[in-house]
Amino acid sequence: MNERRQRFFQMQVRGFLLHLLCMRLSEAQSIFIAGHRGMVGGALIRAITARHPEVKLHTASRQELDLLSQAAVNAFIANTRPDTMVIAAAKVGGIHANSTYPADFIYENLMIAANLVHAAFEYGVKRVLFLGSSCIYPREAPQPMPEDCLLSSPLESTNEAYAIAKIAGLKLCQHYRKQHGVLFHSAMPTNLYGPGDNYHAENSHVIPALLRRFHEAKQEGREEVVVWGTGSPRREFLHVDDLAAGCLHLLESGDPPDWINLGCGHDVSIRELAELVKTTVGYQGNLSFDTSKPDGTPRKLLDVAKMNALGWKAQIPLATGLAEAYSDFKTSLESHTARCV
Ligand SMILES: NC(=O)c1ccc[n+]([C@@H]2O[C@H](COP(=O)([O-])OP(=O)(O)OC[C@H]3O[C@@H](n4cnc5c(N)ncnc54)[C@H](OP(=O)(O)O)[C@@H]3O)[C@@H](O)[C@H]2O)c1
Repeated sequence: MNERRQRFFQMQVRGFLLHLLCMRLSEAQSIFIAGHRGMVGGALIRAITARHPEVKLHTASRQELDLLSQAAVNAFIANTRPDTMVIAAAKVGGIHANSTYPADFIYENLMIAANLVHAAFEYGVKRVLFLGSSCIYPREAPQPMPEDCLLSSPLESTNEAYAIAKIAGLKLCQHYRKQHGVLFHSAMPTNLYGPGDNYHAENSHVIPALLRRFHEAKQEGREEVVVWGTGSPRREFLHVDDLAAGCLHLLESGDPPDWINLGCGHDVSIRELAELVKTTVGYQGNLSFDTSKPDGTPRKLLDVAKMNALGWKAQIPLATGLAEAYSDFKTSLESHTARCV
């Protein structure tokens, strides 16, 4: 058989085997959402409950199941026997947390990924979706960043520990799939925001940090809010309910790529974002920029052509999503349930 025919034959066999093995969301009977109390896990629970109420959901709080323990994870999966697993548990934080606690970020995220992926394989979970992050791509990646720029040059140093653990998670799925023929695959979301976000003063991401700062300035009648840097860097933001819809779309796919970008496909400058947050909060004071503080990478935008080609696009405009996130933040403040960890 010549080489081309052999390759064609191998592809047909692979496609047939994947068809037999593949567990689509519409066929799933039980799903374990690791990290269900987090922002992404919560959005996944809402989306699955709304669209697939027949699916049994398995969840466990950190007190019930410490994902850093392989023995505990094995026991949980052996008892519950989900057919699908989504890994939305991780140690997550902004630049400050990442650069202050790099050992915690690399150790905990490596262990969570390895323990869950290995247990999924050992106990016959048919499908795993692992959530990584856009920070897996190199500091000098082309913009927008395509999936294949992974490992093409050095990472951004401030979150290298987190990124290495996320790359390891993606590679675990890829290699278990390659060696064992299991349907383990990954999604790499851009910056997320929405209900259930973390509003900690130092550890949070840019949107919850800005919402909180403008809100407090408004409450305290302060004349000015100062934002770090020049305001010119451009970033991409995806509402967490859009992300959950994207994950469900991927879980329906019969032969998804090993990893795929999940973003909205366009970016805004930090200045534009700060103006939008100011309007959302209804703050009347001044907005200024402390240009003595570092800006970071000039632009970070995911190339979402692959996800669009699979028939998925983000739906929630930034202004609408911010209004919803602010409303959720105020409600959580009133009920003393705002996350500040
Ligand atoms: N937020 C973003 O902007 C963003 C962007 C790109 C990718 N992602 C990815 O999306 C995923 C979810 O992020 P998120 O924003 O939803 O994070 P999150 O709100 O901090 O939620 C993470 C969840 O993981 C749980 N967890 C962490 N360590 C655990 C452990 N040892 N045992 C048991 N549970 C543990 C946490 O439990 P507790 O509730 O007990 O703390 C929490 O419920 C992560 O993989 C992250 O890398 C997030």
